[in-house]
Amino acid sequence: MAAQNLETQESLSMEKIVSLAKRRGFVFQSSEIYGGQAGAWDYGPMGVELKNRIARFWWKEMTQLHDDIVGLDAAILMHPRVWEASGHVENFTDPLVDCKKCKTRFRADQIDQDKLARKECPDCGGELTDTRKFNLMFKTNIGPVDDGTGLIYLRPETAQGIYVNYKNIVQSNRMKIPFGIAQVGKAFRNEIVTKNFIFRTCEFEQMEMQYFVKPGEDDKFFDYWREQRWAYYEKLGVRMDRLRWHRHGKDELAHYAKDAYDIEYEFPMGFKELEGVHNRTDYDLTRHQEFSGKDMQYIDQDNGNARYIPYIIETSAGLTRQLLAVLCDAYEDQKVADKGNDDDWRTVLHFHPLLAPVTVAVLPLMKKDGLAELARDIRAELKEDYSTDYDQSGAIGRRYRRQDEIGTPYCVTIDYQSKEDGTVTVRDRDSMLQDRVPRASLQEYLRGKIKSYKRV
Ligand code: GAP
Repeated sequence: MAAQNLETQESLSMEKIVSLAKRRGFVFQSSEIYGGQAGAWDYGPMGVELKNRIARFWWKEMTQLHDDIVGLDAAILMHPRVWEASGHVENFTDPLVDCKKCKTRFRADQIDQDKLARKECPDCGGELTDTRKFNLMFKTNIGPVDDGTGLIYLRPETAQGIYVNYKNIVQSNRMKIPFGIAQVGKAFRNEIVTKNFIFRTCEFEQMEMQYFVKPGEDDKFFDYWREQRWAYYEKLGVRMDRLRWHRHGKDELAHYAKDAYDIEYEFPMGFKELEGVHNRTDYDLTRHQEFSGKDMQYIDQDNGNARYIPYIIETSAGLTRQLLAVLCDAYEDQKVADKGNDDDWRTVLHFHPLLAPVTVAVLPLMKKDGLAELARDIRAELKEDYSTDYDQSGAIGRRYRRQDEIGTPYCVTIDYQSKEDGTVTVRDRDSMLQDRVPRASLQEYLRGKIKSYKRV
């Protein structure tokens, strides 16, 4: 049966995603046995595989496929002056109001503006406080004494670790402008509104790339990186009709940005920011030069040793937010039979095979007659190159459904014919069609399928 002829349930709610994520070990609430910790989530066996694969996909795209980009892994804890220089101490704030009666805290820019003007709580009608600025950076203390002298921040973006290392990288790796530095890592923000599952959390991961260019060439590279980032999502296998651009208006631009576009994804709660492409000008390096007293100029040896502070084009994606987009995008409830019971439907995750937590599941049709031994043998052959699963319990149809639910693209089934002629069947998750393949060419068959994969 071909997948495109199947009836599907169109409406996707976040509840469905949260429920599947928990049921199948993608994402759990942090500290669940204590009632949960707001703004923090744990990635289970399937979730950590998916997250690592998305990060790897992005890393390959940035570093392997772009000759002029190198990687970095900077520390989360940085000198506190970094955040003064970056402008975060002064500007990285949300406008907040509290209700004096019900004590609920709101972002002033996200509630009814008439009620805000009347200082009326949108929940209980009580009186609201004046709006005040609330800094989103988490503060902690470093060193043995807790008297405020060891103030340190958990980084709210990974970008600054790249800026403070830019000269080290130019010198150690003989980088010539234009060039980029890529980094994946944790970031922390004291977000007040953390609804919508892992969309906006206090602890999250970013995948950021900072591209250093000659002043005057920034607009050209800004356009180039917008194109590159759009093309990335096509490769990732995301439904492109669920993506759109949003250009920041003057009032939305961050304190460092000359121009900024978001790529927005249509999540169940509507179109929301997935990734930003920013022209940060020479703001960050100029500020670090000022605050550190170190020369941040680039010496252009190919152009008579001209000196200048590079402009920076930033592509900034949330890894955990991208995981949510990939999950939502992959999710489908499909009607696959018409018997009038629950088995008529399957839940399937159409992950790109390079992202799927399990690439190949090996399933013996029966446990007996030597089929299980043969299946284990085949799994042992495959696991050097693929992440595999083995399942011998229950009816084969149920086992396929279990694999569909975690998005396993290929199920290799070992049956009686396998014993006779050395062939196996390979079931394709999306079309549910099966091919009979000689065991000897199974690896080559899978490689070909993965390479030519296209989302239907
Ligand atoms: N260095 C620039 C920067 O951090 P941003 O727009 O604040 O820019 C970039 O964040 C990306 O990081 C966002 O597009 C989003 O994907 C992700 N992100 C930001 N805040 C987040 C949060 N609280 N939870 C999860 N992801 C977040």
